[in-house]
Amino acid sequence: MQIIRDIAMLRRAVSALQQGGKSVALVPTMGALHAGHLSLVRMGKRVADHVIVSIFVNPTQFGPNEDFAAYPRDEDRDAALLVEEGVSLLWAPDVATMYPGGHSTHVEVAELGADYCGAARPGHFDGVATVVSKLFNQVRPDVAIFGEKDWQQLAIIRRMARDLDFALDILGAPIARDSDGLALSSRNAYLSKDQRAAAVAFPNALKAAAKAIAGGADIAETLAKAEADIVAGGFDSVDYVALADAESLERLSLFRKPARLLAAARMGKTRLIDNLAVA
Ligand code: PAF
Repeated sequence: MQIIRDIAMLRRAVSALQQGGKSVALVPTMGALHAGHLSLVRMGKRVADHVIVSIFVNPTQFGPNEDFAAYPRDEDRDAALLVEEGVSLLWAPDVATMYPGGHSTHVEVAELGADYCGAARPGHFDGVATVVSKLFNQVRPDVAIFGEKDWQQLAIIRRMARDLDFALDILGAPIARDSDGLALSSRNAYLSKDQRAAAVAFPNALKAAAKAIAGGADIAETLAKAEADIVAGGFDSVDYVALADAESLERLSLFRKPARLLAAARMGKTRLIDNLAVA
């Protein structure tokens, strides 16, 4: 597996991989890889001839009081996992390569980025949309793969790719979960043993709420109960539990398909997100 940190070298290496009409899948990550990321890589291997993974802890998607400095980083471990998965190329630029001095352009997907995580983390999705559009232009893949755990992020990236005419397919990969149902996340590593055990309250509350809504329960009451159950289970606060149109992300007060339950909750310094289809 080639590890590349320079844009000109990346361009040459990607052209070489594409020789003979071979296709390339890009899996953008911030590292601290877990089984969820590896499932994205495996999807990439199924749909393209080569998989390129990017690792870049993107400063512009973290707020001033967020965990940019603490975000787990272990490139050697990540690279070893990617070698085992048969990844062709690791794109690992540093901050100065991604954002050279004077960088002053950003991408904002206004309509989809304002609510949910966008409201709780102002500027977050502008940072995501900007770095992902740069990754698309740097790598120029045929397909890019993102986890469905960040449902709002995926919707924003799909809209951005459509609005800006990026010539690639965007695929979403199903959420990978631990055996107790907690969605895999690099941020789970922040949880103590006791917090990790308690965190199962989050997916459990969402599962119960999704079932209740699909069964005709009152939506406002069900969402309020899910929030209360999450807090009773050991979380300190809930940023939101909402029923949304799965594509437009419009909040729904009446159930109609396709719908998605979206949620974010905080335990100590850890903020977790999750979502479920309501069917
Ligand atoms: O989902 C992530 O890990 C990040 O938001 C992404 C898409 C790699 C952009 O930095």
